[in-house]
Amino acid sequence: MGRRADLYAYNLTCTHLQCQVKYNETSQMLECPCHGSLFDPINDAKVIKGPAVKALPKIVLEEDENGDIYAVDLIGF
Ligand code: FES
Repeated sequence: MGRRADLYAYNLTCTHLQCQVKYNETSQMLECPCHGSLFDPINDAKVIKGPAVKALPKIVLEEDENGDIYAVDLIGF
């Protein structure tokens, strides 16, 4: 298996008070519906707007020889 730097995923539980964030295609941000935090999915899900202060945990992905993708680690949890 090999790591895919061009693929990434995040735990979608907001780091503020644990609501589920959603991707907004218009803004291209991950948005929390509870208190309005914004996370940038292109930039390691860093906080663009609070009240959250911590980025979303990143899920490390690997691809096997058949093209199947696996989550193998969680960073920042
Ligand atoms: S739970 Fe997401 S901003 Fe508060």
